[in-house]
Amino acid sequence: MLAIYPDATDIICPLIRGGQFHNPVRITTTSLNCEKKAVCDINHFFSKEIGCMLQYSETDPNQVAFLWIHPEARDSSKEFQVPCIGACCFYRQESGYELQWVWLHPYWRGRGLLSEAWPKFISEFGEFDVEPPITKAMAAFLKKHGFKMTERFKHTQRMFLRYDSFDSRWASLESCR
Ligand SMILES: CC(C)(COP(=O)(O)OP(=O)(O)OC[C@H]1O[C@@H](n2cnc3c(N)ncnc32)[C@H](O)[C@@H]1OP(=O)(O)O)[C@@H](O)C(=O)NCCC(=O)NCCS
Repeated sequence: MLAIYPDATDIICPLIRGGQFHNPVRITTTSLNCEKKAVCDINHFFSKEIGCMLQYSETDPNQVAFLWIHPEARDSSKEFQVPCIGACCFYRQESGYELQWVWLHPYWRGRGLLSEAWPKFISEFGEFDVEPPITKAMAAFLKKHGFKMTERFKHTQRMFLRYDSFDSRWASLESCR
């Protein structure tokens, strides 16, 4: 059962200081505290909905996060607070980067935000891996974008399916191909 529904009223989008933003905004250990805190808050929304903790640390230099700012607030003055509607996080492994988690506010899903950002991620991180568990929506996304499932990916997704096969959110291995 989903913990967060599209019409959920208890998702309070975190606010950051206004400015000239180009979505999604790159967040590292040297970013403003309010921006790192916004990634943390969205990481909690992800954990609550997906039921799986993938930690985000504001001080880990191996992590590079991205924040999606509300599209209507991208060019705002610094006196304003602007809402963040999603985030994702990449982690540097020895073998290269992997996308650990991604979460968009339900209202902003299916509007092409991740598709729009995908080329930017590929240009920065190359052929990155994606960390399971993979939801059905993400599997459909990856399939559309020609993502190649690695053996490690298959193994981890299989483990989640074995222990959480009752959970209809997870994508079957076949649907990830
Ligand atoms: C998965 C998620 C990040 C996708 O981002 P998005 O910006 O909504 O994706 P896009 O709008 O760019 O979708 C592009 C394609 O992905 C597929 N897709 C995305 N969401 C889908 C869904 N719910 N069901 C089926 N296909 C979906 C479709 O093929 C879509 O193309 P189309 O619009 O032409 O049909 C977003 O839906 C989300 O935050 N979901 C909840 C958290 C989650 O599942 N995170 C992934 C953890 S592994």
